[in-house]
Amino acid sequence: MRLSVIGCGYLGAVHAACMAKLGHDVVGVDVDASKVARLNAGEAPFFEPGLPELLRESLGSGRLRFSTEMADVAGSAVHFIAVGTPQKRNENGADLSHVYAGVDALLPYLREGDLVVGKSTVPVGTARDLAARIAERCPSADLAWNPEFLREGFAVKDTLEPDRLVYGLADPASGVHLMLDEIYAQALADGRPRLIMDYETAELVKVSANAFLATKISFINAMAEVCEATGADVSVLADAIGHDARIGRKFLNAGLGFGGGCLPKDIRAFMARAGELGADQALTFLREVDSINMRRRARMVDLTREVCGGSLLGQRVAVLGLAFKPNSDDVRDSPALSVAAQLQLQGASVTATDPEAVPNASRRFPDLTYTTSIEDAVTHADAVIVLTEWEQYRTLDPAVLGSLVARPAIVDGRNCLEPERWRDAGWTYRALGRPRAASAVPVAGRSVGLPQAAAGATLSR
Ligand code: UDX
Repeated sequence: MRLSVIGCGYLGAVHAACMAKLGHDVVGVDVDASKVARLNAGEAPFFEPGLPELLRESLGSGRLRFSTEMADVAGSAVHFIAVGTPQKRNENGADLSHVYAGVDALLPYLREGDLVVGKSTVPVGTARDLAARIAERCPSADLAWNPEFLREGFAVKDTLEPDRLVYGLADPASGVHLMLDEIYAQALADGRPRLIMDYETAELVKVSANAFLATKISFINAMAEVCEATGADVSVLADAIGHDARIGRKFLNAGLGFGGGCLPKDIRAFMARAGELGADQALTFLREVDSINMRRRARMVDLTREVCGGSLLGQRVAVLGLAFKPNSDDVRDSPALSVAAQLQLQGASVTATDPEAVPNASRRFPDLTYTTSIEDAVTHADAVIVLTEWEQYRTLDPAVLGSLVARPAIVDGRNCLEPERWRDAGWTYRALGRPRAASAVPVAGRSVGLPQAAAGATLSR
């Protein structure tokens, strides 16, 4: 099929490349000329494993191209709306200006029988409003709402092998679902579930899924707070309750909490929309979910201050991780970047590193010192703090690291290290929700590890 994808950010660029991979003829349209140029050159404008290869393959097949001209959608029968819906400035609600601008720019090019497919995450009620707008201009065109559930870091896989396909339709008898079935023929042939529903339910499926995930994370982080008050261990607790199939272990990793371009702004927009609809009481709990999440950042700063002996002033803190999660260069609402900035503001001298996110982080917070080398970050540090659980940080060798720092103190913001290994190597180890994992005898000022033995050793195991 001939398809257009309006908006080529995380969602749209991946969707366009994946649709071309499935054999469709795709044009991606975006207003950002530099992004379009990079995509046409086979370069992903953001870090996403597998995407550059897929872009090059699809561009090479001649089935994919990117353009800044909306007129290039002519000839496409289906138009995906994949623009961003960020949080409004100083408000909880979603900013829908890109959605309306995208649809309005598309309207002059719609032809009889065309289908517009919404993929962006929008407040409930948006699809019905857009459908009326489309009907006014092009009565024979139709709208479907087909939310996307992709995770950054797994975006290609999640798009090609979705857990489920959701079709929100104005009229299930209209036959619109057949066009979508043709597009997603491969996923359907693989037996992936497909659910047909009305617009409102489809919009709510997306935001309620994200609200549930956020709630699950804040639940375990609330347990972490109780563990800190009682001496219990939240990681062991999560393993134990996670064995109950009704609960499940996924999304029960306690630590610094959730961030990124979706969960935080989606739960806030959901609360704002519920308020507009007079159903605010139903979502009051999400305010607590948000507060628990934000409290983790403050607790991380407190723990760092503690291992620095009670004051951050003049302390050299090495920050490992800036992205909101591993395998991403995204620092939007990143708990890691927020903690790093807070530490600096409270008087610490922060040197931060991340395998992919340094360029984005330094644009957002130019005041921190950045490096791409773990070794540079930790050398002479008074405290090392792990804020994103990248594989290269999980496997760090405490003996080698110990030979570089000024004081062997580490705060594990993601519960991703083995406390015994670090304690056994002489480190003060602290983590969120695991008070007993702390080192019994802090060894401030002591240099551990074997500089000679470490010669030639790598930082990671
Ligand atoms: C999320 C949803 O998972 C996805 O379905 C939706 O389409 C977009 O939003 P994403 O933002 O890519 O995807 O990240 P996700 O993997 O969900 O992680 C979100 C945040 O939660 C990260 O900051 C992560 O570190 C944190 N998290 C996740 C935890 O703190 N603990 C966990 O157990 C899991």
